[in-house]
Amino acid sequence: MLHSHFPNALTALLEQRREKGFLRSLKINVPSIDFASNDYLGFSSTGILSDFNKFSLSKKTGSTGSRLISGNSFLYEETEKQIALFHNTEAALIYNSGYDANLGLLSCVPQKGDLILSDELIHASLIDGIRLSYAVNYKFKHNDIPALTELIARHKNTYKEIYVVVESVYSMDGDCAPLKEIVDLCRESSAHLIVDEAHAIGVFGKNGRGLCEELDIESDCFARIYTYGKAMGCHGAAIVGSEELRNYLINFSRSFIYTTAMPEHGLAAVKAGYSLLEHTPEIEKLKINIHYFNTLINSQPSFINSMSSIHCKLIQGNKAVQLLEEKCSEHNLFVKAIKSPTVKEGQERVRICLHSFNTKQEIELLVELLEN
Ligand SMILES: Cc1ncc(COP(=O)(O)O)c(C=O)c1O
Repeated sequence: MLHSHFPNALTALLEQRREKGFLRSLKINVPSIDFASNDYLGFSSTGILSDFNKFSLSKKTGSTGSRLISGNSFLYEETEKQIALFHNTEAALIYNSGYDANLGLLSCVPQKGDLILSDELIHASLIDGIRLSYAVNYKFKHNDIPALTELIARHKNTYKEIYVVVESVYSMDGDCAPLKEIVDLCRESSAHLIVDEAHAIGVFGKNGRGLCEELDIESDCFARIYTYGKAMGCHGAAIVGSEELRNYLINFSRSFIYTTAMPEHGLAAVKAGYSLLEHTPEIEKLKINIHYFNTLINSQPSFINSMSSIHCKLIQGNKAVQLLEEKCSEHNLFVKAIKSPTVKEGQERVRICLHSFNTKQEIELLVELLEN
């Protein structure tokens, strides 16, 4: 097979990564005890959502176009109403993924002359959205309220609008944002709060409504993002907020406008996921497992303090984390080494995702392997 010439500069970049032990490659995971996936409630792997087709009206395999052309449907509008109701807000808009939602929101909402203040550990999809925006942006130290307070005080008279961007649960650390304090700051300075709840849906709040619901700050948020590829066991995402925000996104959010809409079977799976959240025992089982894991690790300083499904053991160096991943794998446990540059050099870690379906014995074995 003939390929056109691959640029030398790109080959050199790959080589550099290989030499530093940073090279990424795709692997197919053999079935093992899952401490790595985002399927926190087992909605995907246990097949519990497999009757999702009953929520679909059509047999079409594709949506046939973007929402604004031929891709919209009653099911879309109905699902968005259900999402808005579940998350105690006026409106919701579905995107094909959380990446698309964050890119589409941050790239079009903050305008030239506005300011974005974001936690230094926000997800790449939020960072990429911010990079596409014409607003000025500054990062603040992770979860550092005094740093955010200082930034707001310094800039509040210079910019028209201020947007504060955080995650309720941080994807690589598993810790939560101090949302109550952030809300107070935003209220005092009339800043708009954007919260990515990707890892909080299905885990926190009444029937897994998320951390904003648990802390009773839903109405203090300008926008919240819920993604469906994690605890919900399917795919896609929604931005929830006011009807005006939804209307604005339909008009200006390019990752919403210029893409083929999610097909009906995707929507049906989202609907099935929400219906299941209303009565599933899995959320309670997950909470018990998180509590059990925390009891076993007993606040050891090498673990990041976390009440979410995501837990991390910090070990410096890509080689060291890789070795621990392999050791767990030899015992049929699937955990993931998170290497630099995904995290900062020196902040390498083994990332553990706890699930409702992990047994006590599996968690005990995992902790034993992590500790020795
Ligand atoms: C915090 C956060 N936001 C957004 C995303 C992107 O969501 P999706 O996987 O649906 O594109 C992720 C996924 O890794 C995430 O961790």
